[in-house]
Amino acid sequence: MEIRYISRAALAALLLSAICLHAQSDLPATIPNVSSRTTISLDGTWNTIVDPYETGLSSRYYENAKPKTKSDLVEYDFEHSPKLRVPGDWNTQSDSLLFYEGPLWYQRNFSYHRRSGVRTFLYFGAANYQARVWLNGKKLGEHVGGFTPFDVEATEQLSDGENGIVVEIDNTRRADGVPALKTDWWNYGGLTRGVKLVEVPETFIQDYSVQLAKGHTDVIEGWVQLSGATRSGEVSIEIPEIRLKQSAHVDASGRGTFRFPAHVELWAPESPKLYKVVISSGSDSVTDEIGFRTIETRGAQILLNGKAIFLRGISMHEEAPFRSGRAFSEDDDRSLLTWAKELGCNFVRFAHYPYNADMVRLSDKMGLLVWEEIPVYWDIQWQNSATLENAKSQLREIISRDRNRAAIALWSMSNETPISVERTQFLKALVSYARELDPTRLITSALNHTGRSGPDTRVLNDPIGEFLDVLGINEYIGWYEAKIEDTDRTEWKFAYEKPVIVSEFGADAQYNRHGDAQTRFTEEYQANVFEHQLAMWQRVPQMAGMSPWLLMDFRSPRRPLPGIQDYFNRKGLISDQGQRKQAFYVLQKFYDHKAQQDAPRQPGK
Ligand code: GCU
Repeated sequence: MEIRYISRAALAALLLSAICLHAQSDLPATIPNVSSRTTISLDGTWNTIVDPYETGLSSRYYENAKPKTKSDLVEYDFEHSPKLRVPGDWNTQSDSLLFYEGPLWYQRNFSYHRRSGVRTFLYFGAANYQARVWLNGKKLGEHVGGFTPFDVEATEQLSDGENGIVVEIDNTRRADGVPALKTDWWNYGGLTRGVKLVEVPETFIQDYSVQLAKGHTDVIEGWVQLSGATRSGEVSIEIPEIRLKQSAHVDASGRGTFRFPAHVELWAPESPKLYKVVISSGSDSVTDEIGFRTIETRGAQILLNGKAIFLRGISMHEEAPFRSGRAFSEDDDRSLLTWAKELGCNFVRFAHYPYNADMVRLSDKMGLLVWEEIPVYWDIQWQNSATLENAKSQLREIISRDRNRAAIALWSMSNETPISVERTQFLKALVSYARELDPTRLITSALNHTGRSGPDTRVLNDPIGEFLDVLGINEYIGWYEAKIEDTDRTEWKFAYEKPVIVSEFGADAQYNRHGDAQTRFTEEYQANVFEHQLAMWQRVPQMAGMSPWLLMDFRSPRRPLPGIQDYFNRKGLISDQGQRKQAFYVLQKFYDHKAQQDAPRQPGK
């Protein structure tokens, strides 16, 4: 927008709005575990206006105005505009929106009955990428980040009766964003996860952590954070199945901490035991389902509940099978995680951004350990403090949402970032922030820049490795570099005596394209890469797990090859239509053998 002549009053208004925007964008912590709250869903059909020239703000779409007289000029009309389903990305709901990047306005009406003593929040499961929220014409807040939940308090602004909500979503990629301009996944825009009203008492349980104390399998510790004025002096934590009830004093800041002995059945992939946990304070109470387990490292081993575990994993994207859009439903999630279990997995890598809350809860129930990642992906503005704050905000929001999920074993700070002093400083800041927010889990990153200590010996000595608990390594010998057979003589060295997870290797194959094992894009080539990669990594004792790339074909704007890719990355072991390729069975056989090797010995066998 070119500003040539601007009055002092207009300049003051511009400055004031900038200050307000910034203030409102710093939203408080998001209410976790909304599934245990009284909620009113706003999912369904919304009115929408595509706004490629950013007309909506200056034309004040957020007022949802109607002409009052026949001579009034109003150049928009939500009621008679196209509709979109919420939740859901806009790209796959209309051919005209498949590649759309820019602002798009959502609007719907809803009725609400106000009650005294009730606070009401508008909760968004996620919105990609930037969201601005108005209720009955008043700005409630905004949020940046496409994959984490956020909420805004609506109590004062809600009318008793008819209400109107307007949300502007802008999925424009930004050089200073997280992620930035380049990704190898589709930039699905919109209200991609559910929207709901959440009702809580005046003083409510805003956040909590209930976990095994680090390094202990029979001590539970944690905290509860209250929000609101009249805080009772106590919070109570109850686990009915083991007839346990403990209480804790709440300090002036509304925080109560606790630590008590507890004899629980430990959560593990083969026995994903979850306990009903009831947290109460004053008139508020929330119920959660929590698994108790420890996760730590010893030398190059990952220990689950004190015992070494090999993580038989697979990387994935949060992409719905069959319709190839952003996954959001229980069906989408269950299809993907069931395929991972059929592959023989006890571990999944949720690449490259936080997935929907139900996918994590399903991992809890199905016994899958999870690598959860924020989208600090490839090259971003390492020297931009606002970019670091954005990354920290996304990390805070996902740790707050998932801190009580047993399945979450690792927080990943990044994927394939080019080594520089600024980048390592940026990642170190994220690592220490993650440890501050959650000292119970392992910290990792997927690294891909290695050195050589001989023609066939690769060395992972990335400086950020010093600050990680687990080293992720992405490598594509046989696809992006070298020949498949070069794996046979490749050795790996690591500058740190820490567990290594091979977080990516793979090759493209179009389902049902066949040829010899040297013909690119055939199932035979992909299977050949997997066989050689698995043989190479079996020789590396420091390997504590792997999550090859990846479970299912997914959309990517970087993969246009007609007749083969058609804007899909075809490295899936399963096609986007659920068809298994030969490499699926190569990995399944390897994991089956690993599982038998690692199974506890039956007495006498
Ligand atoms: C990279 C990257 C993935 C990408 C994959 C590929 O390593 O981490 O996001 O999709 O390789 O090129 O297929």
